Amino acid sequence: TRIYVPCDTTALSMGADEVAGLIEHYAGIRGVDIELVRNGSRGLFWLEPLVEVETATGRIGYGPVEPDDVPGLVEAGLFEGQSDHPLFLGPVADIPYLKRQQRLTFSRIGITDPLSIADYRAHGGFDGLDKAVLLSPQAIVDEVKASGLRGRGGAAFPTGIKWQTVHDEPWQQQKYIVCNADEGDSGTFADRLAMECDPYMLIEGMAIAGLAVGATHGFIYLRSEYPVAHRILEEALHRAETEGYLGNDVRGSGRAFHLEVRLAAGAYICGEETSLLESLEGKRGLVRAKPPLPAIKGLFGQPTVVNNVLSFAAVPFILSQGGQAYADYGMGRSRGTLPVQLAGNIRQGGLVELAFGVSLKEILEDFGGGTFSGRPMKAVQVGGPLMAYMPESKWETPMDYEAFGQLGAGIGHGGVVVFDDTVDMGEQARFAMEFCTVESCGKCTPCRIGSVRGVEVIDRIRAGENREANLVLLEELCETMVDGSLCAMGGMTPFPVQSVMKHFPDDLTA
Ligand code: NAI
Ligand code: SF4
Repeated sequence: TRIYVPCDTTALSMGADEVAGLIEHYAGIRGVDIELVRNGSRGLFWLEPLVEVETATGRIGYGPVEPDDVPGLVEAGLFEGQSDHPLFLGPVADIPYLKRQQRLTFSRIGITDPLSIADYRAHGGFDGLDKAVLLSPQAIVDEVKASGLRGRGGAAFPTGIKWQTVHDEPWQQQKYIVCNADEGDSGTFADRLAMECDPYMLIEGMAIAGLAVGATHGFIYLRSEYPVAHRILEEALHRAETEGYLGNDVRGSGRAFHLEVRLAAGAYICGEETSLLESLEGKRGLVRAKPPLPAIKGLFGQPTVVNNVLSFAAVPFILSQGGQAYADYGMGRSRGTLPVQLAGNIRQGGLVELAFGVSLKEILEDFGGGTFSGRPMKAVQVGGPLMAYMPESKWETPMDYEAFGQLGAGIGHGGVVVFDDTVDMGEQARFAMEFCTVESCGKCTPCRIGSVRGVEVIDRIRAGENREANLVLLEELCETMVDGSLCAMGGMTPFPVQSVMKHFPDDLTA
């Protein structure tokens, strides 16, 4: 009998190792011959650890399984995939949360053993790379352009155009591929899931990017808070190189692509691409002025593709199935799928990959199932700590970069953080400014000083000091930060503050 127990950070934090050990223990006692596979998570976090048993009718799930549940589960027929237990979930593929998703990028997570290249290949892995080695670099770029893929790190810049810029730089010089895996937004975990549950997908996407633009070397800049992802990536890189998917001769193409992991040091600003490059070069993570764009002068002054994990992760599908197959999903200029990460005060947190166009409300209610506390939802922050708080009147908005932009909000990296009616939005506005005081790189005044003044002004407003004048001052300070900051850190910190002033003014002055 094949039994699956996930090995990603979420499942591990919920006791998956202990559960796996107990399952092996009881199998030994009962003399049942099992093969224990440590798969990735399916992204249904409220069910972790989700134990799956392979049966003639598909994989049957049990969850959330705590170590104390294992003896009872074994007694109730776990090894046979029997149903007589309260944790029995039935066929995992039929769980509505999963069945209703459109998983193009995350199609393999939870299904495969993350480190098995054979498993990856059996599920369509490396088909995109095999196709890419037969194409001209321009044809690869054209396929990515045709997909309509936009940067999933948050800024939504068209990936194909970015690759074209690097492609068009002279080929005799060194070029680089850099993956931004410094996933720092609140409530986000899709990069981590991709790296822990399907690491070859990222490796494949980056190797394809290397072939497309003529880069022979790549770096994954990984946040050091992800030790499990680090371990899995290092092993995956070693195996991919051993089997010829990386190295001096990628898949017999005669072209080289080498890939390494570099650990970040815990600074939010190093997720900004230019300070990330500074950090990769061994310097302090200070933002560089743009232009020049990293696509022209990036790592060590060379043309560099900098993309988020999710952008690279979308590329294998695009190459293997064709750009049009990806573009068939979505709405308007937001093509393909968005891996939404449901977090905060939500009953069913996890990964929900859907075509653009679904409303935020559908995601919150149909997938999220309401708040974890059972209280009414009050506010939702989509896209990280620098984005607006959205009141209920805006939840019908479709997940579309332009539709969110028109509201002064953003989709960012797809993190959705939910708050119930006990939240003090005035405190959240203060937090936005405070976060900026801590994470500012210090290079420009509106951000470095403005955020400190912002905390002070909000404190005065909340203390009832000269309230009218201080509200005007806060609005002016926000405008100065938006217009005068060098990068998105200072430039976007006012967005959550302004959204609280607009939608939750009573909380600010309460
Ligand atoms: P940006 O709009 O300045 O640039 C977007 C990307 O397009 C950059 O890589 C830039 O180099 C590239 N680009 C622009 N014009 C180009 C051209 N003509 N040719 C080639 N490349 C070109 O945005 P930025 O400052 O890089 O990112 C801001 C976003 O980051 C925010 O919207 C926010 O959502 C997101 N963010 C994400 C976080 C996360 O953890 N994923 C954390 C914090 C912010
Ligand atoms: Fe640095 Fe803030 Fe200025 Fe960005 S806005 S360059 S983080 S000081």
